Amino acid sequence: MNLLFRNIVACCLFIFLVQVPTKLLGLEMKYCSIRDTVKHEANQKLLEAVLEKELANLDSSMTLADQANYLSTRITKIASTLLKQGFLADAYEIPKSDRNSILSFNCFALWEGERNTKGPIPLTFFVYIWPSEKVALKHNSSNPLNCHYASTIHSHPIPCSFAVLQGALIQKNYECIGSDQVAKSVRLIEEEIFRKGEGHVDNLTKPCIHQLYNKELGSKICLSLHAYGLSSEEKVMTCFTETLSDCTYNHVIFK
Ligand SMILES: [Fe+2]
Repeated sequence: MNLLFRNIVACCLFIFLVQVPTKLLGLEMKYCSIRDTVKHEANQKLLEAVLEKELANLDSSMTLADQANYLSTRITKIASTLLKQGFLADAYEIPKSDRNSILSFNCFALWEGERNTKGPIPLTFFVYIWPSEKVALKHNSSNPLNCHYASTIHSHPIPCSFAVLQGALIQKNYECIGSDQVAKSVRLIEEEIFRKGEGHVDNLTKPCIHQLYNKELGSKICLSLHAYGLSSEEKVMTCFTETLSDCTYNHVIFK
């Protein structure tokens, strides 16, 4: 019975969160997007150059996995270098919301190990675009479907790291309660603020269950650089889809 229930929950989550329809009970889902493709491609080239320099300093005997881990743990340094060297934040935009729509964060690949290295290095960088909570909740604030401006509460199936490029991100950290793997109840431990140049690394050595969102402490649009421990956007997205039910936490206990 438990297995049946778990499969139903997993199926519903897959339909709702992975195949997120653009229409949600009459509301249109509007995603953050690339405003200027030329500027986005310039950001890709800039990151490629920054990472080439990072990799040039490494001992040639390092394994591909160690190279990926090295870059992932240096994500705040990499983000700071990107900003100093002219990362174009205005390549991205948040859509206008109205009474008939809700806003969702979005992400786009900036660098893939498979595309940019011979190895390939098992790592892919993305830029994430986050609308502020205030902007997202300007309309339909009481609608429970209006939650896509924030990430789900989730853990990571692969190493993940991020650093803020513009604005600020709130990270809510959670801990698992009990051993009920179906409900996967969690409790909030703390909230952290990450501002421009600051970031966090989850190399899977200790439990990490978190949720990210833009509380508009810095700007209406927050941008962040994320690194995931697989060699292409396709592999990262396939991995997240396949592990969605295991890595998503839907039951928050407030005590
Ligand atoms: Fe995460």
